[in-house]
Amino acid sequence: TPPELLRNFCIIAHIDHGKSTLADRMLQLTGVVDARAMRAQYLDRMDIERERGITIKSQAVRMPWALAGEDGVTVPYALNMIDTPGHVDFTYEVSRSLAACEGAVLLVDAAQGIEAQTLANLYLAMQNDLTIIPVLNKIDLPAAQPEKYAEEIAGLVGGDPDDVMRVSGKTGEGVEALLDRIVRLVPPPQGDADAAARAMIFDSVYDTYRGVVTYVRVIDGHLSPRERIVMMSTRATHELLEIGVISPEGIPTDGLGVGEVGYLITGVKDVRQSKVGDTVTNAGKPASTALGGYADPKPMVFSGLYPIDGSDYPVLRDALDKLKLNDAALVYEPETSVALGFGFRVGFLGLLHLEIVRERLEREFDLDLISTAPNVVYDVTMEDRSVVTVTNPSEFPGGKIKEVREPVVKATILAPSEFIGAIMELCQQRRGDLQGMDYLSAERVEMRYMLPLAEIVFDFFDQLKSRTRGYASLDYEQAGEQAADLVKVDILLQGEQVDAFSAIVHKDKAYAYGVMMAGKLRELIPRQQFEVPIQAAVGSRVIARETIRAIRKDVLAKCYGGDISRKRKLLEKQKEGKKRMKTIGRVDVPQEAFIAALSSE
Ligand code: GTP
Repeated sequence: TPPELLRNFCIIAHIDHGKSTLADRMLQLTGVVDARAMRAQYLDRMDIERERGITIKSQAVRMPWALAGEDGVTVPYALNMIDTPGHVDFTYEVSRSLAACEGAVLLVDAAQGIEAQTLANLYLAMQNDLTIIPVLNKIDLPAAQPEKYAEEIAGLVGGDPDDVMRVSGKTGEGVEALLDRIVRLVPPPQGDADAAARAMIFDSVYDTYRGVVTYVRVIDGHLSPRERIVMMSTRATHELLEIGVISPEGIPTDGLGVGEVGYLITGVKDVRQSKVGDTVTNAGKPASTALGGYADPKPMVFSGLYPIDGSDYPVLRDALDKLKLNDAALVYEPETSVALGFGFRVGFLGLLHLEIVRERLEREFDLDLISTAPNVVYDVTMEDRSVVTVTNPSEFPGGKIKEVREPVVKATILAPSEFIGAIMELCQQRRGDLQGMDYLSAERVEMRYMLPLAEIVFDFFDQLKSRTRGYASLDYEQAGEQAADLVKVDILLQGEQVDAFSAIVHKDKAYAYGVMMAGKLRELIPRQQFEVPIQAAVGSRVIARETIRAIRKDVLAKCYGGDISRKRKLLEKQKEGKKRMKTIGRVDVPQEAFIAALSSE
């Protein structure tokens, strides 16, 4: 298809504003998916995405759409819709998807108005110079207030509130008009057809049968089947086994030209050979410079993952190896814990990423897992100037520390203005620094904070929601690092350190953390035959202490009389129970105590 007949666009929206539902309607209206084959959220292929109703991996689909020109002659256009993940953890993927488009449909729920991720995605789209088409969705809802929110949107992106389109992804109202407007307003792609080929990778997925399927947008030149291609960041060359468009399944073509969006298959088995943001060129006639914007995904949050049944360790290792094929951002290495046994320290883009990986491991590989409280990455500079990178709190160095640096984020919070006080209080508790505040309308406010990532990682979002009756929305982006007064708090059972409970916290919060953890463990660990002290300590200084009193547990006490078989049964049962204990020093701790203590974080 010649570039002048192509339109590449994406839909950007806050979570739940109806992006996938609108995409479904477009697929139906353009005849790409017929009504019989239609199922809700067609583009969200992973089960877990469908169940949670969220989009994790972006996808692209090509749709035909005919529109009469000024002379009345109907012109057949091809629209490429690129679906983007909406969550902060996947911002990098969103930004690559946006870079593959010329236009963006800015979709806003007509009953909710603009939310934090609407703004975040809009700014990314503007940075990529995309043509923005503002649209209010869900106008079928009785609670919809299109007039009010059209004003809000016009105030943000400029233009007349009357030009903000009104649609319902549910009923289909207004969706044809939207497709027409996309053709009219989104500029056709521009590129040099005669130049050396350059295509940007905006996604790659692992398929069990075909290996890695790489999604690309061609900028210049042409890619053809059977030729050799080069991934410019690694210089790795591959043969192009198949190339084509997706509509809605893969359809092989005789290549992709300027502005086209599609997939390619080289037979490689690991998505890290096809990195999002990388440039594909032709081995025979390579381009001299790569397209800009490539970055390695960087894990921001680490957690230990341990099988509850120690014999599942090889299964877990195997499962992580398999997930890695499909998740370029997943990193892990083996780790042993006194309390939890053999497991892995795993790095994630953020908390949602952690939850998804964990859930996929449990579901797809039938594993029962414990995950330790997530922590961020710290850079510790010692007095002798050596720098230690800490991804596990129990590895926080002792000795003379000069400085500890922690990651910080720029957070944007949108909420009704009545909650300003509650939000400020929460952010202050979390060591936040207010950077600015703007009113979107008389009753809605945008607040910008600088916050330590570590303070967001723990239940910040839940707190924000509960303090604002669910009305606040949050988005954040990485904003470098800052020095902070951080210490490691250790938990000791009878003088033995329990590694899984070590945490790095701000000096002012060390005491509260120690008291909380010691108290929790006292509740969870059963009495032993001797007294067990539980201590929280910073270095050698004990900051909190609890004691589990001794008992003598006689399981036979209840069995008077001579029923030998019953006695034996009880003794066996006690032995069973012992097996599931972890022994810390001389103290037997049931696995459940660790799980309970770690999970209620
Ligand atoms: P993410 O993929 O998580 O970003 O969500 P999304 O933006 O794709 O939202 P989705 O399409 O999953 O819709 C969210 C909810 O809104 C679902 O329960 C939809 O049924 C509902 N919904 C979507 N569009 C409409 C609409 O036009 N009218 C009404 N009444 N409900 C809608």
